[in-house]
Amino acid sequence: MKKMLNVALPKGRLGEKVYDMFEKAGFECPSIKEVNRKLIFENEEKGIRYFWVKPSDVAIYVERGAADIGVAGKDILLEYKPDVYELLDLKMGKCNMAVAAKKGFVDDRNKTLTVATKFINIAKKHYASIGRDIDIIHLNGSIELAPILGLSDVIVDIVETGSTLKENNLEVVEKFVDISARLIANKSSFKFKCEEIEEIRSKLSKQI
Ligand code: PRP
Repeated sequence: MKKMLNVALPKGRLGEKVYDMFEKAGFECPSIKEVNRKLIFENEEKGIRYFWVKPSDVAIYVERGAADIGVAGKDILLEYKPDVYELLDLKMGKCNMAVAAKKGFVDDRNKTLTVATKFINIAKKHYASIGRDIDIIHLNGSIELAPILGLSDVIVDIVETGSTLKENNLEVVEKFVDISARLIANKSSFKFKCEEIEEIRSKLSKQI
């Protein structure tokens, strides 16, 4: 008998596209398309259970085994280094991790650079690699405000279309990591539900 597989999907547009890939792979669960506020959807016959998780929390569910597999952004994997297997690059949700600043900003290397970001570990690692002294300011959102209000010199953030920067008179200084959505697995699930997880990985990879 097939074992039930628990899948954490990132809530939102990306998650809906990811679900469509699972559906094409033969793991449909039609009730997920109903418009309601439910968070868990199951197709017992197919042995699959989906739940909608805040995108930045997917890796926590998978690391702790509440989900066997899930889809998380490379940004989250780099920032929090969860103890999970990264199985597949889905080549969706593509964006870049970038440094941005007010137009015309020139870095004075004699001063400590103030950096506002949600991604403190990624930012620290980046500046350590170029030997630049920084002062990190940890924000939770609307990072673009920081240089405008003089809270920081630069920001380290995700840039997708670039329109948030543009509309706030900021510009990319440097893009330094490519980001995309990754299929991840809990390490012990990968042992005990190996067949089920491998089947999904292989069917998803054929769609990329
Ligand atoms: C992200 C990111 C940028 C924006 C980039 O923010 O932090 O603000 O998207 O996208 P763009 O280049 O296509 O404009 P998010 O929507 O996650 O909101 P946040 O302000 O809470 O970080």
